[in-house]
Amino acid sequence: MSTDRATPLRVAVLASGRGSNLQAIIDAIAAGQIQANIVAVISNKRDAPALERARAHGLPDLFLDPKPFAGRPDSREAYDRAILEVLEQRQVELVLLAGYMKIVTGVLVNAYANRMMNIHPSLLPSFPGLDVQKKAIDWGCKLAGCTVHFVTEGVDEGPIILQAAVPILDDDTPDALAARILVQEHKIFPRAVQLFAERRLRVEGRRVVIDGAKPHGEAVISAS
Ligand code: GAR
Repeated sequence: MSTDRATPLRVAVLASGRGSNLQAIIDAIAAGQIQANIVAVISNKRDAPALERARAHGLPDLFLDPKPFAGRPDSREAYDRAILEVLEQRQVELVLLAGYMKIVTGVLVNAYANRMMNIHPSLLPSFPGLDVQKKAIDWGCKLAGCTVHFVTEGVDEGPIILQAAVPILDDDTPDALAARILVQEHKIFPRAVQLFAERRLRVEGRRVVIDGAKPHGEAVISAS
């Protein structure tokens, strides 16, 4: 099977904060690891450093203010319809939620079924939601990690594409653990995008099959 693309994959990144995962994707594209172009970086936060990173790399950035949509019964859907309009205008093929701290609705999920990925800092299905590094430590887990998954309407519930695990140390703090997990996030998120761009991801029910992968070949276990 040829994995070469005639044209680079058109990617949009939705981000609310720091944007280090956005940066990892930018860097992987620049390094030639992914045949893709980022055609939109969209944030629900005016001051998101992610937007700053986009501008620094000459990428089209957009702050889409949720406030004008607030107060109406379908405010979340209406906001997502505004995002969808931008995605369709720019002919986006893959949407990445990279630290996007807003729950997406069926409007986006259905339009981008199996074409929208999220990165989450836990080994799903353990610890969906927020403050997950602290929860993993408090629970007494020996392993933590991160997950890239396709996005469905259930929060942090979609089919898992890649995961990486890191040990939890006896004296770990949530911040220290989050930093070690982040190192792995920056590896598996670009890798998942690369696999998508190479058309090697197949969703079968809840499972994502990676064409051409060796058994266990895509799981990452870090010793540190
Ligand atoms: C990352 O750790 C990401 O996994 C997490 O937010 C951080 C964003 O960092 N996402 C979630 O918790 C989503 N549920 P970044 O802005 O530097 O990429």
